Amino acid sequence: MSQMPIPVRANAQAAAPQRPEVWAVTSGKGGVGKTNLSVNMATVLAKMGYRVLLIDADIHLGNVDLLLGIRTEFTIADVLTGNKTLKEIIVHGPGDFDILPAASAVVDLLETKHNIFRDIISSYTKFQQSYDIVLVDTAAGISNQVLSFVFSADKCIVVATPDPASLTDAYGMIKIINRNRADATVMLVLNMVESEAEGQTIYHKMNLMTQRFLSHAITYTGSIVQDQRVAWSVRNQRPILLADPLSPPAKSIRLITRKIMETPSGTEPVGTNLFEGVYKYRDFQVGGGES
Ligand SMILES: Nc1ncnc2c1ncn2[C@@H]1O[C@H](COP(=O)(O)OP(=O)(O)OP(=O)(O)O)[C@@H](O)[C@H]1O
Ligand SMILES: [Mg+2]
Repeated sequence: MSQMPIPVRANAQAAAPQRPEVWAVTSGKGGVGKTNLSVNMATVLAKMGYRVLLIDADIHLGNVDLLLGIRTEFTIADVLTGNKTLKEIIVHGPGDFDILPAASAVVDLLETKHNIFRDIISSYTKFQQSYDIVLVDTAAGISNQVLSFVFSADKCIVVATPDPASLTDAYGMIKIINRNRADATVMLVLNMVESEAEGQTIYHKMNLMTQRFLSHAITYTGSIVQDQRVAWSVRNQRPILLADPLSPPAKSIRLITRKIMETPSGTEPVGTNLFEGVYKYRDFQVGGGES
């Protein structure tokens, strides 16, 4: 039996059109567990009674449909070309949430489709009211395709592993976020750790660095241990929250999701909706003292 949803925003009951809270899941380095975390957090939130939209903002292999074993026929590119509406391309996932496929296409098509993009922004304003929480699973790296979503989110969830290259890239990502959105709510998830204690130690080091060099504290949400059951669930295309809900990684993901949920966002929303933010940051390039 799912719990009663907690209002996502304090004013969720107000008469004004609701803007769902947006969480961007990002990393810098690839292959650290973003998609796995996104799909499972969406499953947790849906179980809690929230209406969840998971935006797949990665067109490369290893994205949301693969992890869920579903087929997505259309992408947001079909909306941009006027062939489909947002509602028509949505797929309902096994974890009881909706998926908006391959939204990174919007950034590519922006160059030529400015007018149509304005239509998307306007239809998304109404469309988003069907959801309480929107998760964006980004691609790896620091391209404008990734950053346009990250800068537009209410909560930026940076995933890293204990691998030094992953930690360096996570720090680089936090720095870029901080330089461009000083009020961003940045949260760290450590994945594939040996133990929760290892995760905490890494978090403390990272937080010391961000406080010292960026004057910005980051929030620790928790760690997920390296566990073959996660790899197995990915191979079987079934989220671990459904396949093995009592396993340690599933428990950790539940705790992490709750922690993110309960941490207030101090970030000022960009525009009226996520896609207005994506439009605003479409040409963003890292450079000129970013790194
Ligand atoms: N906690 C874990 N324990 C063991 N294996 C894990 C864990 N988390 C993720 N993995 C493995 O890591 C692989 C990569 O995960 P995932 O596809 O979620 O990463 P990603 O960050 O989305 O990658 P990309 O940058 O390519 O989009 C998965 O195939 C999975 O097997
Ligand atoms: Mg991925």
